[in-house]
Amino acid sequence: MTFPLSSLSLPAPKVATMHPLMVLLCLLPLFPGSIAVTPSCPKNVNISGGTFTLSKGWAPGSILTYSCPLGYYPVPSTRLCKLNGQWQTSSRSSRLTKAVCKPVRCPSPVSFENGVYTPRLGSHPVGSNLSFECEDGFMLRGSSIRQCRPNGMWDGETAVCDNGASHCPNPGISVGAVRTGSRFGLGDKVSYRCSSNLVLTGSALRECQSNGMWSGTEPICRQPYSYDFPEDVAPALGTSLSHMLGATNPTQKNSENLGRKIHIQRSGHLNLYFLLDASQSVAEKDFEIFKESVNIMVDRIFSFEINVSVAIITFASRPKVIMSVLYDTSRDVMEVMSHLEKANYKDHENGTGTNTFAALNSVYLMMNNQMQRLGMNTAAWQEIRHAIILLTDGKSNMGGSPKVAIDKITEIVNINQKRNDYLDIYAIGVGKLDVDWRELNELGSKKDGERHAFILQDTQALYQVFEHMLDVSKLTDVICGVGNMSTNASNQERTPWHVIIKPQGQATCRGALVSDQWVLTAAHCFRHNGDRKLWRVIVGDPSLRNGQEFEIKEIVISSNFDVRAKENQGIREFYGDDIALLQLEKKVKMSTHARPICLPCTMEANLALRRPLSSTCQDHEKDLLNQLSVPAHFVGLDGNSLNVRLKTGSEWTKCIQPVSKDQVWFPNLTDVNEVVTDQFLCSGSEKMEDNPCKGESGGAVYLEKRFRFFQVGLVSWGLYNPCENGKRYPHKKVPSSRVPRDFHINLFRLQPWLRQHLGGVLNFLPL
Ligand SMILES: *[C@@H]1O[C@H](CO)[C@@H](O)[C@H](O)[C@H]1NC(C)=O
Ligand SMILES: *[C@@H]1O[C@H](CO)[C@@H](O)[C@H](O)[C@H]1NC(C)=O
Ligand SMILES: *[C@@H]1O[C@H](CO)[C@@H](O)[C@H](O)[C@H]1NC(C)=O
Ligand SMILES: *[C@@H]1O[C@H](CO)[C@@H](O)[C@H](O)[C@H]1NC(C)=O
Ligand SMILES: *[C@@H]1O[C@H](CO)[C@@H](O)[C@H](O)[C@H]1NC(C)=O
Ligand SMILES: *[C@@H]1O[C@H](CO)[C@@H](O)[C@H](O)[C@H]1NC(C)=O
Ligand SMILES: *[C@@H]1O[C@H](CO)[C@@H](O)[C@H](O)[C@H]1NC(C)=O
Ligand SMILES: [Mg+2]
Repeated sequence: MTFPLSSLSLPAPKVATMHPLMVLLCLLPLFPGSIAVTPSCPKNVNISGGTFTLSKGWAPGSILTYSCPLGYYPVPSTRLCKLNGQWQTSSRSSRLTKAVCKPVRCPSPVSFENGVYTPRLGSHPVGSNLSFECEDGFMLRGSSIRQCRPNGMWDGETAVCDNGASHCPNPGISVGAVRTGSRFGLGDKVSYRCSSNLVLTGSALRECQSNGMWSGTEPICRQPYSYDFPEDVAPALGTSLSHMLGATNPTQKNSENLGRKIHIQRSGHLNLYFLLDASQSVAEKDFEIFKESVNIMVDRIFSFEINVSVAIITFASRPKVIMSVLYDTSRDVMEVMSHLEKANYKDHENGTGTNTFAALNSVYLMMNNQMQRLGMNTAAWQEIRHAIILLTDGKSNMGGSPKVAIDKITEIVNINQKRNDYLDIYAIGVGKLDVDWRELNELGSKKDGERHAFILQDTQALYQVFEHMLDVSKLTDVICGVGNMSTNASNQERTPWHVIIKPQGQATCRGALVSDQWVLTAAHCFRHNGDRKLWRVIVGDPSLRNGQEFEIKEIVISSNFDVRAKENQGIREFYGDDIALLQLEKKVKMSTHARPICLPCTMEANLALRRPLSSTCQDHEKDLLNQLSVPAHFVGLDGNSLNVRLKTGSEWTKCIQPVSKDQVWFPNLTDVNEVVTDQFLCSGSEKMEDNPCKGESGGAVYLEKRFRFFQVGLVSWGLYNPCENGKRYPHKKVPSSRVPRDFHINLFRLQPWLRQHLGGVLNFLPL
């Protein structure tokens, strides 16, 4: 399934252009004698089996970064070109060791209580399994078989053999860890350390609390070179009861929200602080990845139309405030983005140390300033939620402990048990960085069962993680066009507006929620059966596997819809005005699985598009159908999003031509435009496009813009049905006798009808 990725409007990675100064440097050797020649580091740094990049070519100050294929890691991971034109070597030896790609291995358990594990090896190759079994009288919690993954981490969850005899459950001993303390009563403490050269992430000390949970996060021992796959992060951020038990258990259902995520909600205000490390250990290229990451996160957060202020601070030896939450402009996405664009790695050229303390302290100062302005005891101050996202490789080397600044921040925001979800600190390494796990772990918040430190390989992975960092469960109003864009989200979470329409019995049509009580669909669904009592609408409901059934209060069918209208023109079936609205008996409760899509030409869509208030319907059409072939989607019978390209202008004219060749349905046709009027969008002519099947009629044809979803059409009819018995034929195995083409009602052309029936439900813009 490629849709959510291919449709993301992620900015393309920027290609590094040559700085004018670099051009000069390259030219210098052409004039020998006149200027001292800058030394350059030797080029004998190849790595067998891998590749490398240089931050400033072979010049002093340049950082060389090695990379290896999946399942291997480079040793060393980086090299620094020193001022004397020599590569920095390890303190022990002055000789340059040859770089190699070593195979990744997973650590082995140091101890396992009340059970046995096999096989017993010093470490384990990627792909191998480790299995756990408990002694009699003990129950196994966690994964009984775990597989070593290419990032050096075991899949699944820590296996624990527990007899359930204590106040808190046995917190277990994660692979590679050693635990001190074996009493699990109220107030008892356990502590952990990691064996050999593994690095501990999570909480080294945990206490059994009165609620029967262990404080802090499960400690995990990692290989220093390990990094996260986006899918590892989802369960780490997802709340599960078993997290609270100390070790996680995939069989238990998510139940309670501990508030570890960034809350997206209408009331109150969110302050989001981005701190970007621009120190020497972070190459300029990585800094650009940080900027790109922040850009994506800012764009996404503003897509929810919530009250948010964004601060941006770049730092090396000193912090530089690019945007402060104290500025009015910090609430304006355009202003935030244009300031971010100006953030420059070179701003820190005269102090390239890593002063993470000072960076966090400038957040503290901002908070303090805002508290003075608003008043310490006012709701305005107390209702602000704060999230700090630190993009760094760790490795702070000046200014003292960042922990001191974090403590000051925790104090000023008055974080206690009750206000735990008012502050989140995430420490994220993204890009091909050599990251210090230990420090990253120090920086991230450690709340019960949560994880706040991540190392990711690219912005795409970061985007996936960010999607999981957001908690939209409090977004209970009728905000339109908000779908979950994580690859790991369920189909219904991705397209929460999608509904199934069926007579009592088998599903026959699809539709889209356009408000909390109205569904837009095709008129022809009701051609043979217009009795509302015989129909049901299935709407997504997170608590029910197959959604919730709604009865219909009213079916509104366009009075112009008449399949036989053009029979005497050689058109056996005509689908003009194939549009209908269903009013549901009851309002739908908004959730991550049930939300309306945005209808263009409404105020609601205008907000989502972040367009000026004075915009018109025409502006929306220009904005959304802005090319000759516009990428769009519809939802297939199995719930997956499929791809089409909507043709406009001259491409539309070409797209509709094959209709005249269909002698069965259109004998004696003289003018194609009589069948395919301008009410229809056309798709299906290209190989990569999917064709809708019977049963998919009425569903939304939609596109994504600025992380929101807009319905521009609805599936009406086509020349080719790629399905049989509800199954799609393999992609585009079209019989040579058929020419696939699909036609969708164009909502821009049916504005008068929509306005007539939805005028009191949605706020329409001038045409
Ligand atoms: C390093 O590898 C590249 C291509 O793999 C090769 O062209 C180059 O000669 C090698 N350099 C040295 C110093 O071995
Ligand atoms: C590991 O276990 C999985 C099932 O959990 C199995 O599919 C796989 O083949 C096993 N791998 C090895 C190397 O035994
Ligand atoms: C996320 O999706 C990937 C494949 O797309 C899958 O392997 C992984 O288990 C999923 N993770 C979660 C937490 O659902
Ligand atoms: C944002 O905050 C202002 C007050 O500062 C409030 O009037 C407005 O309704 C809020 N907006 C949203 C979308 O909650
Ligand atoms: C760094 O120092 C040089 C020399 O003092 C100065 O010209 C330059 O503007 C400084 N750069 C920054 C970003 O402050
Ligand atoms: C997306 O779905 C995941 C998995 O269900 C969830 O944890 C996350 O909060 C959702 N994010 C958004 C923005 O809806
Ligand atoms: C098509 O035209 C032929 C002759 O012109 C006529 O006999 C036939 O009835 C027409 N078919 C339809 C469906 O109009
Ligand atoms: Mg640094």
